[in-house]
Amino acid sequence: MSSFSRVRTLWCFVLLLALSAAAQSPPVPTQIPGQNAILMGVAWYPEQWPEPRWEDDLRLMEAADVKVVRIAEFAWSRMEPSEGKYDLDWLERAVNLAAKHHIVSVLGTPTATPPAWLTQKYPDTLRVEPNGQRVTHGNRAHASVSSPRYREFCRRIAEQMARRFGHNPNVVGWQIDNEYGYALMSYDDITRQRFQDWLKAKYKTLDSLNTHWTTAYWSQTYDNWSEIPIPVGGHNPGLMLEWKRFVGHEWTDYQQNEIDVIRKNAESRQFITGNFMGFFDGFDHYEITAPLTFASWDDYVGSGHVDPAFNGLSHDLTRGFKRENFWVMETQPGAVNWHSVNNFLNRGEARAMAWQAIGHGADDVNYWQWRSALNGQEQYHGVLVGADGTPVPFYDEVSTTAQEFAKVESSFRGTVPVSDVALLYSYDSHWAIQFQKHNQNYDDIGVLKNYYRALRQLSQSVDVISAYAPLSGYKLVVAPNLNVLPKDLADHLLEYARNGGNLVLGPRSGMKDEYNALLPQRQPGYFADPLGARVEQFYALEKDVPVPVSGAWGSGTASIWAEQLKTTAPDAEVLLKYGKSNGWLDDQPAAVTRAFGKGRITYIGAVLDDKLTAVAAEWMVQKSGVKAVFGPVPDGVEVSRRTGGGKQVFILINYAPDSRTVTLPHSMKLLLDGKESDKVELPQYGVEVLADTK
Ligand code: GLA
Repeated sequence: MSSFSRVRTLWCFVLLLALSAAAQSPPVPTQIPGQNAILMGVAWYPEQWPEPRWEDDLRLMEAADVKVVRIAEFAWSRMEPSEGKYDLDWLERAVNLAAKHHIVSVLGTPTATPPAWLTQKYPDTLRVEPNGQRVTHGNRAHASVSSPRYREFCRRIAEQMARRFGHNPNVVGWQIDNEYGYALMSYDDITRQRFQDWLKAKYKTLDSLNTHWTTAYWSQTYDNWSEIPIPVGGHNPGLMLEWKRFVGHEWTDYQQNEIDVIRKNAESRQFITGNFMGFFDGFDHYEITAPLTFASWDDYVGSGHVDPAFNGLSHDLTRGFKRENFWVMETQPGAVNWHSVNNFLNRGEARAMAWQAIGHGADDVNYWQWRSALNGQEQYHGVLVGADGTPVPFYDEVSTTAQEFAKVESSFRGTVPVSDVALLYSYDSHWAIQFQKHNQNYDDIGVLKNYYRALRQLSQSVDVISAYAPLSGYKLVVAPNLNVLPKDLADHLLEYARNGGNLVLGPRSGMKDEYNALLPQRQPGYFADPLGARVEQFYALEKDVPVPVSGAWGSGTASIWAEQLKTTAPDAEVLLKYGKSNGWLDDQPAAVTRAFGKGRITYIGAVLDDKLTAVAAEWMVQKSGVKAVFGPVPDGVEVSRRTGGGKQVFILINYAPDSRTVTLPHSMKLLLDGKESDKVELPQYGVEVLADTK
């Protein structure tokens, strides 16, 4: 072979290798090139410790297979000790020292904790409470998100950090702020003016605003934009919903201020994320996560023990923000310090939680925090290393889990959860229901969770996504509480059903337009005609007086909420009817279904008990041809699946108090055990990771 053909052959070989690697591993933004596909990390605060101590900490981290530190998110007073005087040398030393121990850094911008010199010199940067009092310095999230002056300080510190670290190979990404100040707002003149300006930009004329909010009611008519108040509860539902949206706009804008300056100064390989909080509802997370590389969340149990269904739902919610894998930026090392009873998770429970996160699409799990600060508000919080600088017993559990991550990581490269079932979530609907619950026991997230639990058990993979997300890939779409259902959203959902989708709407759906005004047609609004049925009247049910329901799904009860339905089309099929109740509901339809286009629309007008919800879910998956992604597992065992690049990986976790045997659909590779088997034995909190090569 000539040297030319040898080179050509070699090149072809290299190309083939590259192509096959690309086919195996589509890039997932949560997986860092050059790093393990799944990572374990900790929140580390070098600024709290003498520098000679750092290396001991990093050595202990490295020994535990910790690969990531998130740092600096509260270190503003250390990075800018006085106005305009920056000191980032120590941080660079910390980042570089971490790298020496094969640990990469995520830098948090410190804007949740402005330093004392700043708030002292510029008190207008501090938030004003609804009662008119300015907050004092000394806690966190004490600045006003709407203060232009504060934003400028945030921009400057983020700029300094990005200039210094935007090209540092050991900095893999950024976290903006910390938990976005719990969405707290300042009730000051600047904020109010910004709110009014924002309303003006949206409504253009006061006439339009007055009409949409029906301000003729209780003489609320506004003649001037400056008359519009910041709602503090008990206000017009239109005003209250717009305020929530404005809050989201302000935090998104605040975030963008920092994103812009980081993007300008940093390499594009560095990701930008924010650490969110599951179902925290301070702002619309679909909006605020849009400009981020990926979403992250802080997964805390607080009191008690992990509820796998709710925790799984929260993971899936976070994955749904951007319909991408995500990170768990913080999770509890055993216990927190902020709940009523800060009990410790059982031994093995945190490991189960870490693997659950991976199963639901997390590619990194970080413990908050590495070591207890000697003073400060969180002295009692769980840690990996005690105040004395030596590992606490929990360190071993993290270390075991991190070693497992490192051992099996390559099986997860390029993989993501893929589902045939979507649950729809909408902040507008959630807020609208929260403003006027009508029954104090109505819990829309609880209703979502009931459907999730039932559907997850049957399908073993559920996406939780925005009601506006693309739906064509799903066999079944369930929207339990779509209270705010304007025309554009109705069209989007109807198109899905028309093209063959199976759409299920739950109670309180289709009542409001985008201004939180009642739709001028009977509930479920734009769905009344396609469904061939409508809500005649709704009822908040008395506590402990459940209503019997029966029909195609068997018999059971409805509680908290019941809607009396009426069919208007001959081919609308009644699936459930109420039994003897308040006279109004007796013998009336509770659930209706009708073929629509190539698909189907179903409306369930009551909060059903768990058993009925489970049978309803069985009916839904059967009608839509949804199959379990794995197959039967015993009670108490959760299975998750990630796929991609020709790989299929399952994670089995046993949450039952005793051991469980799982029979696999066929023999698979048990990655943690390192053997091939068609059976897995799991003790309580036992985990196995399966590579399906068939
Ligand atoms: C939050 C914060 C952390 C820390 C933990 C304690 O998630 O982001 O800074 O206070 O709670 O649980």
